[in-house]
Amino acid sequence: MVAQEKDRTVVADEALGYPIIVAPGVVGCMNEFLLSRSYRDVVVLCDANPAVRTIAQRLVRRLRPQARLLAFALGERRKRLSTLEVVLDGLTTVGAERTTLLIGVGGGVASDLFGFAAATYMRGTAYAHVATSLVAMVDAAIGGKTGVDLAGGKNLAGAFRDPVAVFCDLDALQTLPYRHLREGLAEIVKAAIIEGGDLFEGLETLAAHPFYRWPWESIVVDAIRIKAAIVRDDRLEAGDRELLNLGHTFAHAFERAGGYRMSHGAAVAVGLRAAGMLALRLGRFSEEEHLRVLALLALLRLPMHAALDVDATLAAMGADKKVRKGRLRFVLPRAIGDVEHGIVARRATVRNVLERVRLRPGAAG
Ligand SMILES: NC(=O)c1ccc[n+]([C@@H]2O[C@H](COP(=O)([O-])OP(=O)(O)OC[C@H]3O[C@@H](n4cnc5c(N)ncnc54)[C@H](O)[C@@H]3O)[C@@H](O)[C@H]2O)c1
Ligand SMILES: [Zn+2]
Repeated sequence: MVAQEKDRTVVADEALGYPIIVAPGVVGCMNEFLLSRSYRDVVVLCDANPAVRTIAQRLVRRLRPQARLLAFALGERRKRLSTLEVVLDGLTTVGAERTTLLIGVGGGVASDLFGFAAATYMRGTAYAHVATSLVAMVDAAIGGKTGVDLAGGKNLAGAFRDPVAVFCDLDALQTLPYRHLREGLAEIVKAAIIEGGDLFEGLETLAAHPFYRWPWESIVVDAIRIKAAIVRDDRLEAGDRELLNLGHTFAHAFERAGGYRMSHGAAVAVGLRAAGMLALRLGRFSEEEHLRVLALLALLRLPMHAALDVDATLAAMGADKKVRKGRLRFVLPRAIGDVEHGIVARRATVRNVLERVRLRPGAAG
């Protein structure tokens, strides 16, 4: 599933039917890809964040064929249908056609939103994504889940639509704010709990070292490989793909109940702790393993608490896509390297967990 080429690593090409290319700087890889596919018209869509826009402008200057650039103010709170409409209108304004290749540049919000725009524009145009945040590289840009939030909940409108390629630009991590880099690690910890073994132990070792000494390429590739293997066997999330939602029933509710002020990575970190606590309370997870996960989260200096309203969070959980007949269902660890999905828990037990992860004013984080 992983092929090492001269200046890049290519993951999952056969497994998913499209390449995920991990490299420092992706213009060269992108041009080679475009040449191999003979797209004649390209529109680049980017997050208007100055650092991301700079990456997109550099790409557009050097792309063959020539591309037009559209930039949009994004952010978690703009992952909405109203922004989708602005993007689709932008595409009509520049005269994008059904055969135009759309290239999105940005983090997970950009890949979810631009990917959804590509899925719907003229009933579907080809889409490639240049991932510039850690969350987008190891998770959001891979697997074809696109979408936006609705007032009723996170990611409630969307489409499964595979990209034609994903480019993970490791150089982009240099401008990603330190907080987003650190909090983005939560998705890698999630993958490590699902897989166990080397990735989990590797993170335990690396946690003591500063980020500049981390082997980012191999970590990103490992996390992608784990996600791609799960997605390959269950593309539409009818079964085991749900495992990738470990910690997310909590995380999505924290985000929504908190008005999307918390980063997704931070919400996932607290969600992983909450999932471990719930599994422990249900007698499905050992205290020793739970403490090992907590120790890793702490070593990586990931958040363990969220400033949350317990009632609002419980209500937000009711809108989770995994809810069946009103019952809350969770993805929970049984051991590091052994995760199960479809576990029903009583609201009172969930409430108790929420009370424990709630940041109390004045309490130490
Ligand atoms: N579809 C999926 O399978 C999937 C999986 C995981 C997460 N997600 C979604 O991804 C979203 C979170 O992604 P995110 O954390 O990347 O958020 P994001 O896209 O908002 O990026 C975080 C912040 O970093 C900025 N940024 C991005 N790249 C940068 C760079 N290289 N330099 C400087 N700043 C940069 C962005 O402008 C933003 O301010 C959530 O909405 C989540 O639901 C989707
Ligand atoms: Zn996530």
